Amino acid sequence: MTREFGFATRAVHVGQGIDKDSRAVRRPITLANSFAFPEDPEALASLGWSSVGINIYTRNGGVNQKYLEEKLASLHGAEDCVVLASGVAALHGLFFSLLRSGDHVVVADTTYIAVYRLLNELFPERFNITSTLVDASDPENVRAAMRPNTKLVHIEPIANPTVKITDVRAVAEIAHAGGALLSVDNTFSSPANQRPLEQGADFVVESLTKYINGHGDSLGGAVLGSAQLLSDIRLNSQVNVGGVISPFAAWLIMRGAATLPLRMERVNATALTVARWLEGFSGTRFVWYPGLESTPGHAVAAGEMSGFGGVIAFDFDISQEAHLEILQHFKVIVPAVSLGHDESLIAPMPPDDERMPLYPVPHQKGFFRFAIGLEDADDIIWDLEQAYRAVV
Ligand SMILES: Cc1ncc(COP(=O)(O)O)c(C=O)c1O
Repeated sequence: MTREFGFATRAVHVGQGIDKDSRAVRRPITLANSFAFPEDPEALASLGWSSVGINIYTRNGGVNQKYLEEKLASLHGAEDCVVLASGVAALHGLFFSLLRSGDHVVVADTTYIAVYRLLNELFPERFNITSTLVDASDPENVRAAMRPNTKLVHIEPIANPTVKITDVRAVAEIAHAGGALLSVDNTFSSPANQRPLEQGADFVVESLTKYINGHGDSLGGAVLGSAQLLSDIRLNSQVNVGGVISPFAAWLIMRGAATLPLRMERVNATALTVARWLEGFSGTRFVWYPGLESTPGHAVAAGEMSGFGGVIAFDFDISQEAHLEILQHFKVIVPAVSLGHDESLIAPMPPDDERMPLYPVPHQKGFFRFAIGLEDADDIIWDLEQAYRAVV
């Protein structure tokens, strides 16, 4: 009898197994950087020096990396997965392997800052790969920006840092009608909340550093999609450029990923409670959270996501200076960048950000990107209110 196992079961079991030597119920961290040649001379003769994904040298593919790739491919329903040293290494790996001189990319105007720099500065200057920034929350803007040489459309369904929402299904249709591929940075959702490959995307990128690891103690990134391009990324970004993940980091992320479904359930619930509180609080200037009906794109999010994640973009009605001053008053929430940790994190978004004109929220004094953690919702709310009162 066979059975298609559920998401939580796969999060626990896929890639995990009994260690053959010791019968330990956890696969060990294999820190070796090289592996003994096969004893069989024929097998040895068939090894190529640039072989990828076989046990020869850890930059060609480590075993902990491989187990993690199996788990992530299963969670996203992907044909293949390549794990690299960071989310940015994964984004770069995808763009670098897919794009050629003369290609054009349509990219959402609100994305993680490294995407903006790669596609608007580095790739045009170095490789003659051009891009057009569009407000992808209206898919018609994507359609209008398509050109005959558009090879790729790149979006974030919940964009960093404003949580602007983009319709993956609609943009996938437009990209494909124009002969382009769609890549989706799914970091703010994780596969627990959204699986863009099932919605028409060709590639998914995840910063594993965030929800998938879940504990703020490791860096990693993944590209998921068809095996053909991914083997190119493996050869280019991992073997030739050296962006391989360390076995220890892969092992930590593997451990974190087992509790992803549980943590996301909790984060989704707490973030909605906190966002609703912010919406009703007299000191709030604005609050955007995909789970709030008042947030633009909420209906799209409700149709494409099973949970709305843990990131809230909001502002208190306070002076520009108070945006920094308030940070010293938090007693539970930690003032730091990143998201997806066990602790809640708050980062002030500066009013002089180079992309400021692109932000659709009122930004003159800055605002906060608030990443909900695993604490009690009541304590998070208490902390927000007492810190606000300390600066007004
Ligand atoms: C949406 C998104 N994509 C990619 C990255 C980059 O990931 P990493 O820090 O693992 O390189 C981040 C990091 O904040 C992010 O928020």
